[in-house]
Amino acid sequence: MNQTLTARGPIARIPIVCLAGFMGSGKSTVGARLARHLGWRFVDLDERIEASAGITIPQFFERHGEPAFRQLEADELRAALGRAVEQKEPTVLALGGGTYAQPGAPEFLRNAGVPVIWLDARIEVLLSRCMTMTGRPLFRDEASFRALHAQRIVSYQLADFRVDSSGDAAVVVAEILRRGIAGVPATDLEAHLELEKPKS
Ligand code: S3P
Repeated sequence: MNQTLTARGPIARIPIVCLAGFMGSGKSTVGARLARHLGWRFVDLDERIEASAGITIPQFFERHGEPAFRQLEADELRAALGRAVEQKEPTVLALGGGTYAQPGAPEFLRNAGVPVIWLDARIEVLLSRCMTMTGRPLFRDEASFRALHAQRIVSYQLADFRVDSSGDAAVVVAEILRRGIAGVPATDLEAHLELEKPKS
C-alpha cells in the first residue's frame, strides 16, 4: 500500500473520521449510526470496493486474489477521501478489517490529517459476530482468525483513538460523541445523546 498511497499534506480541512478495527468490530454499524447522528455522509469502503469491481468481495478474492484486492482497497480509500474533500462533505469512513493493517496505511492517514478510531472488541465477541455471517474470505476458522487478529493488533494500536466496541452500537456511538472524538462541539453533545435514549 505504501507504493500506492501518498499524501502530500493534510487534506482534511473538512471533518473526516475513519473507523478501523478487525472483522466484526462494528465499523459499518457504528459508522452508519455515527454519521446519522452527526449529519455527516457515511461511506463504507467495502461497499465502494464492491461497487467499483462489480462483484462481491468473496468473488474478488476468488478471481483475483488478495494482493489485487489490497491494491483496489488502497485506490478506493484514496478515492473516498478525495471525494469527501472535493465535495466538501463531512464524512465517516468505515475501513475494511485489513485496510489499516496494510503497510503504509497508518502513515498515509496521519499525513492526510484524518483521525482514526480503532473499534476494539474482545476476540470472543469478534468471533461470535463473524461466525454467524458469511461474505468474509479471510474468516476461515477460529485458529486463523485469532492468529490474524494477533498479527494486526500492532497496527490498530497506531490509531488516534481506541473505543471499546464489545457492546451495543448505540453505546459505542455515545462514547465517541461523549469524548468529542469526531469534533462535535460540546454544546451539541446533549442533543446527540438525547437521540440515543430509548423511547419510554
Ligand atoms: C477483510 C475484512 C473485510 C473485507 C475483506 C478483507 C480483512 O472487511 O474488507 O473481506 O482483511 O480483514 P470487514 O472487516 O468489514 O469484514
